[in-house]
Amino acid sequence: MSSRTAGEDGGQMIKPMDMENLICAADQARQNAYAPYSRFHVGAAVLCADGTVFTGCNIENASYPVSNCAERTALFKAVSEGYREFKAIAVISDAEGFTSPCGVCRQALSEFCEPELVIYMCGRNRKCRQTTLGELLPFAFSL
Ligand code: THU
Repeated sequence: MSSRTAGEDGGQMIKPMDMENLICAADQARQNAYAPYSRFHVGAAVLCADGTVFTGCNIENASYPVSNCAERTALFKAVSEGYREFKAIAVISDAEGFTSPCGVCRQALSEFCEPELVIYMCGRNRKCRQTTLGELLPFAFSL
């Protein structure tokens, strides 16, 4: 594990500007959501260790289980480009409350991210709640 500084919630320290940019990028990605079935538009953005940001949106399918969440779209885009270390992820929707990653996305993140991964869960007007992967998925399964 690299030398990282932990924030109050046990997550990595993210500069306020990086946090703002990440949430803004996730919100922009939300515009591309393909959600004709649920009409629930979600955007996500992952912050890589070197500062690179990858974004994603949810992509639904007429065969419902084929659909992909915004978080996994962003994560898989990053991984497929060779990125393996992540500091934070932001997820945003237009819902009243905070949008929290589903169980499948939590497990997908745990394959590549430490429990200290910072997660910004955001809703309408970019109102956000900060947590960590370790808080959302304690005792993650791994081989
Ligand atoms: N969805 C996401 O993309 N991320 C989440 O964190 C929660 C749910 C998507 C999946 C589906 O396209 C729609 O939102 C409704 O569940």
